[in-house]
Amino acid sequence: FIRLQAWHLSFCLDLSDVPWFPKKISDLDKCANRVLMYGSDLDADHPGFKDNVYRKRRKYFADLAMTYKHGEPIPRVEFMTEEVQTWGVVFRELNKLYPTHACREYLQNIPLLSQHCGYREDNIPQLEDVSCFLKERTGFSIRPVAGYLSPRDFLAGLAFRVFHCTQYVRHQSDPLYTPEPDTCHELLGHVPLLADPSFAQFSQELGLASLGASDDSVQKLATCYFFTVEFGLCKQEGRLRAYGAGLLSSIGELKHALSGNANILPFNPEVTCKQECLITTFQDVYFLSESFEEAKGKMREFAKTIKRPFTVRYNPYTQSVAVLKDMPSISSVVEELRHDLDIVGDALQRLNKHMGI
Ligand SMILES: [Fe+2]
Repeated sequence: FIRLQAWHLSFCLDLSDVPWFPKKISDLDKCANRVLMYGSDLDADHPGFKDNVYRKRRKYFADLAMTYKHGEPIPRVEFMTEEVQTWGVVFRELNKLYPTHACREYLQNIPLLSQHCGYREDNIPQLEDVSCFLKERTGFSIRPVAGYLSPRDFLAGLAFRVFHCTQYVRHQSDPLYTPEPDTCHELLGHVPLLADPSFAQFSQELGLASLGASDDSVQKLATCYFFTVEFGLCKQEGRLRAYGAGLLSSIGELKHALSGNANILPFNPEVTCKQECLITTFQDVYFLSESFEEAKGKMREFAKTIKRPFTVRYNPYTQSVAVLKDMPSISSVVEELRHDLDIVGDALQRLNKHMGI
C-alpha cells in the first residue's frame, strides 16, 4: 500500500469535464432555487389556475422558499382554514388505508410524528418541527423549495441528507388530487420513511451516486429514485406493502398498486432505470424490493457502473463531500477505517472477556 501511495502521490485526476456539484451542505443555496416552475405560474389545467387568491398564496410560499438560506429555521406558516380542511380530508382518508397498505417502517414512525410534530387531522405540521425531528432520528433535514427542481439538483440534496419539501397545499377544489407535489405529499408520503435509518441511508446513497455524474447517469438514478422512493413496494410477512411516497400520498394509486391487478416486477436498477415514469396516470409497472437493505445492495452495485473518474465519501462531521481522486484522499479514508476496525476489535475483545471466552 505504501509503495502504491508513493507511486500515485503526484497523480491527480483531471476533473475539469465533471459537471459542477455541491461539495458542502451550504452549497445547496446555489442550486435549491433553480426551480422549473415558480409560485403562481400554474398550467392552464391546474385546479387553481383561475383562482387568484390561490395564485397569490402560491407566490407567498414561493417567496419564502426562494429567500431561504442554509442554517436558517424554516419559516412557520399560519395555514388558512381551507388549507387545514384540505389537509384534513387527505389525512383522514389516507389513514384509513395505512394499517393495511403501508410498510412496517412507515407505521412505526407515524405515532412519533403525531407526538413530536403535531401530525393531526386538524393541524398541518410545520416543516421546521419535522426537520428538527428528522435530524435527531437520521440526520436528515428539510429545505423548503418553491417547486420542481431538476433531477440533478434534487438528488444532490439527498447526498447531504437534505430533502427539498414544498410548503404549499394543493387546491381545495379536489383534496384527493394534485398535479404536483405539495406539502401533504411531502409530510404524509416522504417524511415517515426519512425517519427510518436504513431508508435514509438508501436515499443518501442515491444522492451521492449522482454527484458529478453525466446527464445520462443522473437520468437513470432519477428513474430509480422514482420507482423506489416515490413508487416502491416491498413484501413484509408475505404481504405487499407500499413505501413509495407517491403511493402513500395517493388514495387511488395506493389501492391500485396493492389490488392484485397491478404489474409488479422485482426491483433491478438495470431494468428499472429504463422504465418510463408516468406523471398524470397510474404507473404501468411497480418494482418490488424484499427490504431496504436489499434495495441498497442493488443500488450500490449499480452505482459502481456509473461512469465517473472518482468516487465520493460523505463526511458527517463537516457535512461535506470528500472527492476520492488521489492517493492522499484515499489513504485518509483508510486511516479512518483502521480506527473504526480498532473500535470493533476492542468491543469484541471486551465482549469475549465478559463472556469468559
Ligand atoms: Fe415526492
